Amino acid sequence: MAQHLLPRTGALGSRLIGVGAALPQRAVSNDELAAQIDTSDEWIRTRTGIRQRYLVSGDETAVSLAHKAAQNALDHAGRSAHDIDAIIVATSTPDQVFPSVAVRVQAALGMERGFGFDVSAACSGFVYALSVGDSMIRAGQVKRVLIIGVEVFSRLLDWQDRSTCVLFGDGAGAVLLEAGAGEGEGILSTHLHADGRLGDLLYVNGAVGCISGKVALKMQGREVFRHAVVNLAAAVDEALETNGLRGTDIQWMVPHQANLRIIEGMAKKLSLPSERVVVTVDRHANTSAASIPLALDEAVRDGRIRPGDLVLMEALGGGLTWGSALIRM
Ligand code: ACO
Repeated sequence: MAQHLLPRTGALGSRLIGVGAALPQRAVSNDELAAQIDTSDEWIRTRTGIRQRYLVSGDETAVSLAHKAAQNALDHAGRSAHDIDAIIVATSTPDQVFPSVAVRVQAALGMERGFGFDVSAACSGFVYALSVGDSMIRAGQVKRVLIIGVEVFSRLLDWQDRSTCVLFGDGAGAVLLEAGAGEGEGILSTHLHADGRLGDLLYVNGAVGCISGKVALKMQGREVFRHAVVNLAAAVDEALETNGLRGTDIQWMVPHQANLRIIEGMAKKLSLPSERVVVTVDRHANTSAASIPLALDEAVRDGRIRPGDLVLMEALGGGLTWGSALIRM
């Protein structure tokens, strides 16, 4: 059930040349949630590390957030939409069943050529999309590809279910990949995994816009936690082994931001001090496919992550799906 994408070398690899992010305007604190449902700031913070989340309001949509993050990534890279060959969007919460978020963003950016499509792999979506984009560059099919993770999970949540609604937030993050990385540069490896037999541990009972009735996210939190710890540890080992590296070679971990306890467990495994782990879950909560590019954007822009640094990304989510990416920035 695992697909191994082995690292390949040569001049056709992909470099990450821009990052971008977009958060909804409205921040919602734990106390605001506690005023509406039977929960508390203390419970949420101690179990998850979350202090607040951003939720869409007004005319904010998956497409508007993704468009903003994409434009920020293009500006950061000093490239224009006309330089882009493809857009790959990781999302479980598109505004419509189709057209995809990707082609809506293509139009919003004013692109008159290229192509785009969405990838659905829940919280692992960004790592999946990054892997697909990297593979297309290595295959010579595209030169520049925007990889976007965007979620509007607030639409999927049952706001009466305190065991899930306190965990998630909305947002978008983007990176721009460009062909031309030499040996040992850019995306060194990606590894993707899935085990569909575990699909019922974390799922949405329908699709937004597809069915009538109440669509809501359901989760067996403890079981997901258990699988996250085991599978992410194996994914980290796999990434290190493939590249002939040790945990201490990693300079930065940019993990999927589900839960501070899972993140700290992974950092401990790598013997990474906490200041080498990018954490946004306290302010963003779990933004699913958007969480890694949102965290990466923050750490690149504030100067923590610098060119040449070795960065490990890992994620696990509904499916179950999980995976890793190792990048020399
Ligand atoms: N506020 C107050 N009490 C709550 C809340 C809440 N928001 N939610 C649940 N509780 C109560 C439960 O009702 C239960 O009460 P009881 O003992 O009287 O029955 C008690 O807290 C313990 O509930 P558990 O679900 O067992 O709590 P747990 O310690 O497992 O923590 C959590 C729950 C935080 C969801 C944890 O299991 C977890 O982090 N799991 C990982 C899942 C995850 O992060 N999923 C995100 C998507 S997947 C991913 O991104 C990796």
